[in-house]
Amino acid sequence: MEISELEKIDKTVKGWLRESRDNVLRSIDTRLTVNTKSSRRDLVTNIDKQNEKFIVSKIREFEPDAKILGEEGFGDRVDSTQGRVWIVDPIDGTMNFVKQRNHFAIMIALYQDGIGELGYILDVIGNHLLSGGPKLGVFDNGHPLDKVADTALKDGLIGLSGPMVLNNDFNMVEIAEKSLGMRIYGSAGIDIISVLRGELVGYISYLKPWDFGAGKILAEAVGLKITTIDGKQLGMLSSTAVLLATRNAHRDVLTIVGK
Ligand code: IPD
Ligand code: CA
Ligand code: CA
Ligand code: CA
Repeated sequence: MEISELEKIDKTVKGWLRESRDNVLRSIDTRLTVNTKSSRRDLVTNIDKQNEKFIVSKIREFEPDAKILGEEGFGDRVDSTQGRVWIVDPIDGTMNFVKQRNHFAIMIALYQDGIGELGYILDVIGNHLLSGGPKLGVFDNGHPLDKVADTALKDGLIGLSGPMVLNNDFNMVEIAEKSLGMRIYGSAGIDIISVLRGELVGYISYLKPWDFGAGKILAEAVGLKITTIDGKQLGMLSSTAVLLATRNAHRDVLTIVGK
């Protein structure tokens, strides 16, 4: 896609996100309708649904032929990466949203023929928007993102998923031990923002396309590495254990996983 077209889309998406944030903030003190999905820890609220409907309607108005993959099912069934595919996570970190009313994100990604063009992760309460892509560059609230230092695992904090640590999947305990400390934030979006800002050297979790779609674009655009936990290329429609890290920390984690 051409820069001028990307700039136009970028401005439009930022407008949707401003409106979407205002809508979510207005709901923050209201009584939520909370339902479970696959387990008692897998929640969906009326706000997740409302917000996905809102973003999907904006995309449809802007680009009637686009394919949309949304977590809560208001988009389309997407089984091919061909053409333009939008990926939407209306509230990432729903458990945090329900229990803390904080530490959750709204995420939007745009892929063209499987190539990431634009990614957006909005920390709603912190009001931090990480945005951009390989052609536009990556911005933190509109300021070009500082280069991320290539810190090793032993010199940084690592963001992990609670269930993976509890089960010691892929030697997660040793990965935590080799780092300066582990953090479990409970929102892929908030974790990925922390890696982009150099606050974490990496993040590991079982993720679905809407959890990593935007983060993959932003991370790769600033030279971070994102693969499956065993170092394989990540398909944009795959659900798998994901490793996002600085190049050094990525190599350190793969060494421990391979043991
Ligand atoms: C979840 C969060 C969580 C991650 C899960 C995701 P959701 O997203 O990002 O941190 O560990 O794998 O499903 O369901 O709250 O949008
Ligand atoms: Ca969910
Ligand atoms: Ca999510
Ligand atoms: Ca979600």
